[in-house]
Parts: sequence; C-alpha cells; structure tokens
Amino acid sequence: MADAAVLAGPSTQTLQWTKKDLLGLRELSAEEIRAILATAESFREISLRPIKKVPALRGRTVVNLFFEPSTRTRISFELAAKRLSADIINISASSSSLAKGETILDTIKNLEALKIDVVIIRHAASGVPHLLARHVSASVINAGDGAHEHPTQALLDLLTIQQKKGRLDGLRVSIIGDIAHSRVARSNIWGLMKLGAAVTVCGPPTLIPPHIEQLGVRATYDVKEAIREADVLMLLRIQHERQEAALVPSLREYRLRYGLDRERLKGAKPEVLIMHPGPINRGVEMDSSVADGPYSVILDQVTNGLAVRMAVLYLVAGTSKAEIPADE
Ligand code: CP
Repeated sequence: MADAAVLAGPSTQTLQWTKKDLLGLRELSAEEIRAILATAESFREISLRPIKKVPALRGRTVVNLFFEPSTRTRISFELAAKRLSADIINISASSSSLAKGETILDTIKNLEALKIDVVIIRHAASGVPHLLARHVSASVINAGDGAHEHPTQALLDLLTIQQKKGRLDGLRVSIIGDIAHSRVARSNIWGLMKLGAAVTVCGPPTLIPPHIEQLGVRATYDVKEAIREADVLMLLRIQHERQEAALVPSLREYRLRYGLDRERLKGAKPEVLIMHPGPINRGVEMDSSVADGPYSVILDQVTNGLAVRMAVLYLVAGTSKAEIPADE
C-alpha cells in the first residue's frame, strides 16, 4: 500500500533514490529535497486512517540514539518507524555502555553486529553523524548535530510552508533569533534557498555569524524590517546550552528588542505564517498570544514531522530500487 502511494506521482519522470544516509540538506539537490517532500506528502494520509500502519519496513531494525534531550524528533522518529512496521530500539547514552567509556563508533559497530539497518543519531558535536556514516554500512540519519544541521526539521518546515502557501519559490522567509548556534537555521537556509525562497536572518549582532551573507542570505539587526518583508517568520530559541559566554545581556532584554508580541506582529504581512521548531521559550522569542494565535502553524510543523520522518526512513531503508516522484 505504501509502495503504491509513494510511487504514484504527478510526473512520469522518476528519480532513483541512491543515498544511504541523510546527513544534511547542504549535500542534497533541489530535486532530492522535492522528492522527499513528495514522498512525505503521500505518507501523511496513513496517520489519518483508523489503523495507522503499513508494512513498508517490515523486518527492518531502526535504532534511535540520542545524546541530547528531545521530545519532537525522538518521538516522531519512533512513531514513524512503528507506522512503517519496523522494529525500533531507543538507546540513551546515559543508560548504555557509552557511560562506561565505550566510544560511539564501538557502540555502533556492536549494534551493527546485531544487524541493524538504520541509526538515527542526535549529538552535541557537529560532524558525529558524518563520521559514523563513513564507518558503518547501516544508514545514518542526522537528528541534529551540534550547531551544524537538523535536516528533518528543515524538511518538515519546507513541507509546512509548501502546504500553507502552495509554493516555496519566490517567498521571503525571515529567521529571527540565535542564528549562530542554530542547526535549524543552517538546514533551513540550505533548503529554502535551493527551493527558490529568499532568506533574511535577524538577531542581535552577537548571535549572527560574521560573513553569513556568503551563504546567500541577507542579515539585519532590525527586527521590524525582518517582520515587515516576510511571508514566513521562523522564530528560534536562545540556545544557552551551546553558548560559551552570555551573548545577550538578559532574556528580558532579548524579548524587548527581538521578541514577537501582538504589537510587533501588527507590522507583518496579512497572511504571514508564524513558525517555531520548538521547544518554545514562551515570553522570550514569542508571546503566547502569537504562539497560539491564528497565524501560528507550530503544531502543523509537528504533524508534518511524522510524515517527513516516515519518508526519510522509507527512502534510506526501504526501497533502494524504488522509483520516487520527481520534478518535470
Ligand atoms: N525541534 C526539535 O528538534 O525539537 P526536539 O529537541 O524536542 O526534538
């Protein structure tokens, strides 16, 4: 059933999915990103059925290995694997032999000896998923590595924008907040630009990396300007856990200068979308009136996260020979 759904595309052209891993959006083409979004779109319907399960990954084994806290990503990967009938094992670093000094590579090699098919990994150090992918034959999916990339978050963001706005090409997206420490910002910048959106990043000077314009984005410290021009506002959390020193004087100061409240939202376009990857610091980057207001699509993002993660698991683990819809 899932195969039929996935293979049914609007185009007669097809794209052969050949990648073993999903490590970031930087290394994907626009065509590959669109193929994942099309696959995710076809998987959304499964979660609306009374019996929310298809046999697409029956017999496959998936390991969720999280070295950092997570609610949305860990749970939606677990649910995605279950909806595709895969076996899933959750491992937390603190309760495994990693806590006794075993290296990550040794841990993964031992899991591979048990014939696992996919490892989903979140780690505080940038590049860990890439290191593992080079050394193991199982597929590796990056669930967030340091301040580097969070590809499935950006994919679910792209899917949400596409659903709500009908397109990505030509849209203006302002990403506001802690750009310097954000893997969500980095993956979204790659994905949005590849699909034709224009990206502005905005935040205090201490939280915007120097020379970020070299990626092709515009940078501004003026939040009113970033709000005024945007079709989509993507708010980010201040990531204290990744800052070596306090880079904003206080959260109160940040809220006053950059927080999105009802008053500031009056300067936005009439049909603006408000997005946030979560977890939200209510009353800091946005007020509850905005987070829970009529322009917010934050919970749609979470719903789409499940479909995107089903699509990614299916593509890397399910159908090396399958053809998937591609652009005309
Ligand atoms: N957006 C996101 O990655 O959330 P979690 O940290 O809860 O997974």
